[in-house]
Amino acid sequence: MNQDQLKQMVGEAARDEVLKLAAGQVLGIGTGSTANCFIDALAPHRDHFLGAVSSSNATTERLLKHGFKVLNPNEVTSLPAYVDGADEIDPAGHMIKGGGGALTREKIIASMAKQFICICDSSKQVPVLGNFALPVEIIPLAQGVVTRELEKLGGKISLRMQKTGQEPFVTDNAGWILDIAGLQIANPEQTEFQINQIAGVIAVGLFAKEKADLLLVSNAAGVERIIFK
Ligand code: A5P
Repeated sequence: MNQDQLKQMVGEAARDEVLKLAAGQVLGIGTGSTANCFIDALAPHRDHFLGAVSSSNATTERLLKHGFKVLNPNEVTSLPAYVDGADEIDPAGHMIKGGGGALTREKIIASMAKQFICICDSSKQVPVLGNFALPVEIIPLAQGVVTRELEKLGGKISLRMQKTGQEPFVTDNAGWILDIAGLQIANPEQTEFQINQIAGVIAVGLFAKEKADLLLVSNAAGVERIIFK
């Protein structure tokens, strides 16, 4: 079974999971290739929900194409669940996210939701976070000072560039992203707190406070359901 099939399998499992929620509510929906599989699987059942709040322009576009109603987060006061992928997840449910650059909106919507349902294949499960470079969204004019502060944590900092061209990658919020490679994040809560204190940081893609409540993880044998305390 290849990785695309594993993503599709877990997307379908997440669809079955959210269809257990009472009808007529708003659902938070994440960004990335696994979240896309979930959106595609949920599309025929979109009327179960009043609508969705989306974590990126790319997700909004996909939701609208499938006929979902997309609501502004400011119009919504409660979300029963937020469903999204991860770049890494540790045994406690802490995650690195932001490989697609949508970390800030992802974190905002996760903070609004009663339950974070993380969906991924088993290649994302790690004993300690940090092999995947940790993304930090910043205000562009703070690049120099934030880089110097982040270097004190011990990793190697690089400014994320667009795939083609020499220009910096620009987020949906007009921010830039610094990726920190080479960290071993033994204490995710502390590292998240430290990075949040740096002036010029918009958000860090470490989801320790907003960790997963439920993990649906696919492997060749099927989808495992892990509930975190
Ligand atoms: C988007 O910014 C990310 O947080 C994604 O949720 C994460 O990168 C997982 O993406 P894939 O499902 O494409 O691996």
